[in-house]
Amino acid sequence: NIVNVILSGGIGSRLWPLSRKSRPKQYLPIFDNKSLFELTVERNKGICDKLMVVGGIDNYQLSRDCLHSISPGDYLELVEALPRNTAAAIAFAALSLDPEDIMLVTPSDHLISNQPRYEKALRKAVELAKEGYLVTFGLLPARPETGFGYIEHRGNEVVSFREKPDLELAEEFVRSGNFLWNSGMFCFSANIYLQELKIYEPALLDAAQKALAGADNGFLPLEPSKNIPSISVDYAVMERSKKIKVVPSDFTWSDMGSFEALYEHIGEGDPRRKGSNLVLGSEKRVEFLGMENVILVETSDAILVLNKEKAQDVKKIYEQLEKEN
Ligand code: GDD
Ligand code: MG
Repeated sequence: NIVNVILSGGIGSRLWPLSRKSRPKQYLPIFDNKSLFELTVERNKGICDKLMVVGGIDNYQLSRDCLHSISPGDYLELVEALPRNTAAAIAFAALSLDPEDIMLVTPSDHLISNQPRYEKALRKAVELAKEGYLVTFGLLPARPETGFGYIEHRGNEVVSFREKPDLELAEEFVRSGNFLWNSGMFCFSANIYLQELKIYEPALLDAAQKALAGADNGFLPLEPSKNIPSISVDYAVMERSKKIKVVPSDFTWSDMGSFEALYEHIGEGDPRRKGSNLVLGSEKRVEFLGMENVILVETSDAILVLNKEKAQDVKKIYEQLEKEN
């Protein structure tokens, strides 16, 4: 079986105040009245036989509501008591599936267009996954983004995988022409992932196994989950494994993770753009004087004004607010 494993753990703190704990960005119906979560399910269902959603306790009702409204048939569900990052989330899925199952792991917050090119890349990835590789999807980098992973490659061969470089390195990677962005989607068989995790993060695998053993109907128990190291799959496995391959891909992709990404997506012709500035959510008339690359975001109870270069730092504001509450 080919199983689409959708990760829906995060709340998208870099999109505060648009995204909140009670309404994480991937469930907001802001892309032609569809949410990113819904679009994710739709784009993968032609290629996959099964659907599994791994998400946090705060999100599971939102996932359910969305899935019921689009009725994709049966699906599996794993609900985390607390977020332990992607290496563990994927381990829960892998441990719950058949060892031979091919997992197509996808985030729930990406925007992808050009479905035929996407499906072509997926088919190639499934082929490589069946040969025993951990497959990544590589996209031509459009800017020296520091929030992504970079894959140095020759064809499908991966020379190195570098997660979230600093700006200087990212600039060097983009200039060199040998690096692709890691899309954040992965394809591998359940047993290969677990094998690699056992090599590089044995304690994590062990703790994930123990937590899963106590799961009740797909709901993971809180106490044993606390013992699971919080590390992303990129750092835990992708940077280290010798079994990584990449499918260089040419579908249109964006991680709607930050206001900078929304800014690029919205583009110059849009009425929300005011020269190089952008206004989101405000019903008021907004004018800018002597400002460049400023993004203003308004919701009923908050206003955020930022320079688009600081888009990654919105997370810090969110974390600060969490502490105050
Ligand atoms: N279930 C679950 N549990 N999901 C999680 C958890 C968790 O604890 N933590 C994160 N996720 C989900 C997020 O909701 C998102 O859909 C996905 O896993 C990836 O997590 P992000 O936090 O968005 O990762 P990132 O954007 O910093 O980096 C990843 O994606 C980039 C491309 O968008 C990496 O794979 C980078 O290498 C990649 O370039
Ligand atoms: Mg992301």
